[in-house]
Order: sequence, then C-alpha cells, then structure tokens
Amino acid sequence: MNSRSACRSVVVVVVVWLGCFCQESWSRGPEDLEQNAAVQRFRSYLRIPTVQPEPDYGPAIAFLLGQAQEVGLAARVLEFVAKKPLLVMTWKGSSQQKLPSVILNSHMDVVPVEEEKWIYPPFAAHMDEDGNIFARGSQDMKVVGMMYLEAIRLLKARGWAPVRDLHVLWVPDEEIGGNDGWGKFAESQEFADLNAGIVLDEGHISYNQTYIVDYGEKAMWWLVIQAFGGTGHGSIYFDNSASENLFKSIASINAFRESQMNLVKAGIKPLEEVVVVNSVFLKSGSPTPDGFTMNIQPSVVEAGFDVRVPPVAEMGAFMNKRIAEEWAPKSRNMSYYFTVKTETKNGDVPVTIADDSNPWWTLLKKAVSKFNSTLSPEIANGASDSRFARMQGVSALGITAIQDVPFLIHSDNEFGVTISGGSGTEVHGLCHERL
Ligand SMILES: *[C@@H]1O[C@H](CO)[C@@H](O)[C@H](O)[C@H]1NC(C)=O
Ligand SMILES: *[C@@H]1O[C@H](CO)[C@@H](O)[C@H](O)[C@H]1NC(C)=O
Ligand SMILES: *[C@@H]1O[C@H](CO)[C@@H](O)[C@H](O)[C@H]1NC(C)=O
Ligand SMILES: [Zn+2]
Repeated sequence: MNSRSACRSVVVVVVVWLGCFCQESWSRGPEDLEQNAAVQRFRSYLRIPTVQPEPDYGPAIAFLLGQAQEVGLAARVLEFVAKKPLLVMTWKGSSQQKLPSVILNSHMDVVPVEEEKWIYPPFAAHMDEDGNIFARGSQDMKVVGMMYLEAIRLLKARGWAPVRDLHVLWVPDEEIGGNDGWGKFAESQEFADLNAGIVLDEGHISYNQTYIVDYGEKAMWWLVIQAFGGTGHGSIYFDNSASENLFKSIASINAFRESQMNLVKAGIKPLEEVVVVNSVFLKSGSPTPDGFTMNIQPSVVEAGFDVRVPPVAEMGAFMNKRIAEEWAPKSRNMSYYFTVKTETKNGDVPVTIADDSNPWWTLLKKAVSKFNSTLSPEIANGASDSRFARMQGVSALGITAIQDVPFLIHSDNEFGVTISGGSGTEVHGLCHERL
C-alpha cells in the first residue's frame, strides 16, 4: 500500500472524528447544546426506531440519504435481502491509482427495549441537564455513524480532500447476526469493487485515555451433544445407559470449564482469552401430563452448551478434538452437532494484526497519540460485523471513540453524550474530552 496517503486518510479521519464534538461552543452548557446542529442531527437519527426484530429501515435510509446530500457524499442503496437495505456513501479520493479504500462502518439496527425500565422513552432522545442523551443506539452504535459524518463535515469545511476513496457504510441486520447484511455484502462484487484496505467498526466503550480496540472476536459454537443407550426399567442396573454416558461428558465439560474459569479468577487471563462453556439446556425423559415417567431409563439424552472459542491459533482444532474425543465420543455412543458455528479460515477465526507490522494499526496509533491517547488491543467478547471483513482478508478494527461514559450497550437507559466535570464546562462523551 501507499502508506503516505494511507496515513493522511486515516489520521485525518480519526483525528477529526475524535475532535468533532469538542468545539468550544459546546462548553457553554446544555441550553446551547439544544441549538447545536450536530446534536440535533444525532437526536434525529436516534428517534428513528430501527429496532429488532422487525426494523423498518425506510425512514433511516431516507434520513441518511438526506445527510449524504447535505454533506456532499455520493450515496447508493444496495439490497441483497428484501427489506434489509445497505447504504454506501462515498467520498471519492483524488488518486488515479487504485489505492485500497477506507470503510467507516456502522449498523443501523438496535436491540429491543423494555420500555417500562427506562426513565425516559427510549426513542425520544431526551437530553437531561447534564447533556446526557438517552436513547437506544446512543452507544451501540448510531453514535459512531453520526461521528463519522460530523468528522467528514468538518473535513470538508476545512477544505481537506482524501487521496484514497472513503466509504461510509450503513448496514442492517447486525444485531441478529449480520448474515443478511454484511454477510451478503462481504461476498458481493460491490464489496470487491470497493477494494477495501481497512474497516473501522464498533468497539468497546473506553474508560479513559486508552482506547480499547477490538482486533478479533470469539467464535460462537452452539453445541448439542447426544447420548444413546438401551432403555430399561428404572428398578434395574445396566451399564452404559444414555444418562450415564452423558453424565461422564458433563463431568469432563465441567472440569474443563472450571480450569478456564480459574484462569480468569486468578487474573492470569481475561475472559476474552479463555474458552467459555456454559450449560444451556438438558433434555431427556418421557413427559406425562403432569411431569415425567419415573420408572423408565431414557434411551436418548441431550445437553446444549454455549461455547465461545477465542481466536487463538490452533484453538479451533484443539476444541474440535476435545469435543469429538472427550465430550461426545463415538466410543460412548454419543454424537454432537452445532446449531451455530462461526465460520473459520483454515480452522481458525481470522484476526486483524494489532501491532506495527500492520501499517493501518500504526496510523491509528499515530492519530490517537495526537490526543495523548493510546490503544489497547483486545479480543471482543461478543460478535460484530468486523468478522465478515476479516474473513475476506481485510483489516478490521473496532473502536467506539467514547470515553468516560458507563458501558450501557444493550442496557436499559443507554445514553450517549455527556457534559460533566466539576464546573460543568468540560465536554465528555461522543469524543475525546480534552482538546
Ligand atoms: C484505563 O482503562 C483501562 C481499562 O480499559 C484500565 O485497564 C487502565 O488501568 C486505565 N488506566 C488508567 C490510567 O486509569
Ligand atoms: C454402545 O451401543 C452398543 C449397541 O447398543 C452397545 O453394545 C455398547 O455397549 C454401547 N457402548 C457404550 C459405551 O455405551
Ligand atoms: C498532550 O499533552 C501535552 C503535554 O502534556 C500537552 O501540551 C498537550 O496540550 C496535550 N494535547 C492534548 C490534545 O490534550
Ligand atoms: Zn453494535
């Protein structure tokens, strides 16, 4: 890659992105915030209820097309699955060479709410006297999408123009797995044509000047194991009943689970770096109208586990072997299957290199260093659309450049922007606060 122009694109975008909401006019108090155009745009977007499981993306697309026009970005809508549109805004770069492009990604959908648990209605974007804006999506991740656009507005106002193409992507479906959104997009000719070099996507909320950057994520394996045995009367003993065989597996799974949990408890590894395995269902017996038949040993018993595998080299192969040989061995008349299993490349879940051997990483690091901030690479515990880009061999880093707000992703009373600090004049929230 041409790292000099890459530098300009990424550094400038991220720098302005971090800085965009920290203009002086912001430090005068919430009355002025009401009038602030960026705040108004953010709240307008939050008021569009793109809530799963059946979001109507139409109004969000209409709003965003309006934004693209105002900002001066080309825009086109793609639809790989009916009613699940994907919007691509493009700022053409000046270079004639086919330089890898920058994609700034955000998903439009949000998770459901339990409205009665909210102190303000979740789609009203209420702003309290501290400047906190309450709404579903105010952290995950409408805030990030709007930060991209505000950054681009400022860049344009300063007369800056990118060398390589910059795409702002608005996608559906992320909160229900993303297969109909990024999943389809990643395999399309449209994606190939973007010639993406780096995707910036959502990440963890950061607590201080150290930005948490997700460079990979755990694989989700939803495992069902089944044990078979002869059925027999409940009053007799025989070897190798289905239940007996399953209990041997459960003992083995529990021992492994404890070993992993102990690593976390002892502070040797964070949760993100161990295998998590939790029992989610047990199924056996012959139901009667008011319970179960009590004198028959069942011939089939099943157990379900939510297993999360960290993207460590060889870990997938290691776990596959363990499941086949210890948790559900044929020799014990057992079988297993996965209801969900994250796709892998050569058996492993791909990660993005998060050190200076990846020039995009170096650029991001340089960009945040201008704000006296550093990066802390982490494996994400949950899933994001980044994995689809990584599967295509494209770098993807998850960073939600918000600091000093509690982590409220998927929680009740999620809020974004905060204005706080001893004198009430310090700006926190959507961006870095001390500029
Ligand atoms: C910043 O936050 C991280 C957690 O993301 C924590 O590990 C670290 O100790 C904090 N640093 C300071 C200086 O508070
Ligand atoms: C497996 O099933 C076969 C056939 O039903 C039986 O003979 C054998 O004892 C079983 N073995 C175990 C370990 O359950
Ligand atoms: C970063 O730290 C230096 C030295 O302490 C200071 O002069 C500068 O203003 C800080 N920059 C920002 C953006 O906070
Ligand atoms: Zn999200």
